[in-house]
Amino acid sequence: MNKVETSFLHKNQFGDDFLWGVSTAAFQIEGAHDTDGKGPSIWDVFTSQKGKIKNGHHASTACDFYNSYQNDIDLIRELNIPNFRFSISWPRIMPAGVPPINQAGIAYYNKIIDALLLAGIEPWITLYHWDLPHNLELKGGWTNRESVNWFSAYVEICVQNFGDRVKNWMVINEPSVFTGAGYFLGIHAPGKKGITNYLKAMHHVTLATAAGAKIIRNRIPDAHIGTTFSCTHIEPATQSPKDIEAAKRVDTLLNRTFIEPILGLGYPQADLPVLKKLNAYIVEDDLNNLSFDFDFIGLQCYTREVVKSSLLIPYIGAELISAEKRNVISTDMGWEVYPPALYEVLKKFNAYNSIKKIIITENGAAFPDTLKNGKVYDIKRTHYIQDHLEQILKAKKDGLHVDGYFVWTLTDNFEWAEGYNARFGLIHVDFDTQQRTIKHSGLWFKDFLS
Ligand code: NOJ
Repeated sequence: MNKVETSFLHKNQFGDDFLWGVSTAAFQIEGAHDTDGKGPSIWDVFTSQKGKIKNGHHASTACDFYNSYQNDIDLIRELNIPNFRFSISWPRIMPAGVPPINQAGIAYYNKIIDALLLAGIEPWITLYHWDLPHNLELKGGWTNRESVNWFSAYVEICVQNFGDRVKNWMVINEPSVFTGAGYFLGIHAPGKKGITNYLKAMHHVTLATAAGAKIIRNRIPDAHIGTTFSCTHIEPATQSPKDIEAAKRVDTLLNRTFIEPILGLGYPQADLPVLKKLNAYIVEDDLNNLSFDFDFIGLQCYTREVVKSSLLIPYIGAELISAEKRNVISTDMGWEVYPPALYEVLKKFNAYNSIKKIIITENGAAFPDTLKNGKVYDIKRTHYIQDHLEQILKAKKDGLHVDGYFVWTLTDNFEWAEGYNARFGLIHVDFDTQQRTIKHSGLWFKDFLS
């Protein structure tokens, strides 16, 4: 075997049961935006609007995973990666978001699942990775309380059709990001803004998370059920009481608001008073219906944030000081490279006693890779992954629980508002030819997993 990098890391240090995988999402890779009866999602519509995505990029073809899935599954096997996380596109299964069902969509995901199993790769399904059917957005999307029922009906269809072969399920991906960026800031689909839209979406998404998980539990008794949260280590810019308080509010918003109701702790209204406005949308039994006893929690951590108090920022009274302003090493996303953040979030989430198992369901980095003589020498990404794995080992040594690590992501793909500029893949994609080239980081990961 060709050793591509010397590193003191060894897979065995993580234990035999540690789960290794790679994560993707339907809209970012599939393309085939209107093929075989698929309906438009909010992201198809958003990307078609002028000025929303860098360089006017869209995902009509993306990585063409819809057609090249077998090739990409072969690559996952070549990289020795035993677990593959992918999402189901709701409008491919139900073009209008509600019945009728598109049988071609069901057939497509059946092909993927069967191809993975045949290759000896375990499928991990995310039910919602941000591509809401556009037709439902016309009815208010996640701001409409009916969204809980729409989502439940969609989950039923997925578990009925795929539950015989798929045991690992994640209900919703990064709720704080898609509600914050999509319903408060308007920089992600569906492009809505304002506190009312945001809080309604927050509450309905959280209800839908618990409702969806219950459906999986009832239909697939031996399912391994999780849901994923983005999380960031937050630090105050100075030790002044104002900055410390500001950091606490940002931590509450980014790290606690979505998980605490799921854990039965309710919304953290005491530490973030604007959340009290949620009470206008909470009815009768809601507080009981917000929680679910998940088998695992997926954490997705990329960086840390440094926070200072600011009276100019409404609701939160805090400002993030960018990596650029702090003059620290950062990725193409402008995110600081700070591996200890992973240790810190593991410590933070380990403190919730009711979390049974933590899996890092995303971690990775975007760097400006170049293909030279058929090779991509992405040493920064290789080191980024290695350094984060070191933090996991440190956490394990300190007695913290962590049960798996999934790299974001398999191939370079459509990075939402950043378009194709931010390359996160272990595998390089030439988007003109769809040519794949395994990067140095991919080769290192392959060796590591062998
Ligand atoms: C979080 C999201 O789940 C994923 O879709 C995104 O591409 C990565 N992080 C990187 O930003």
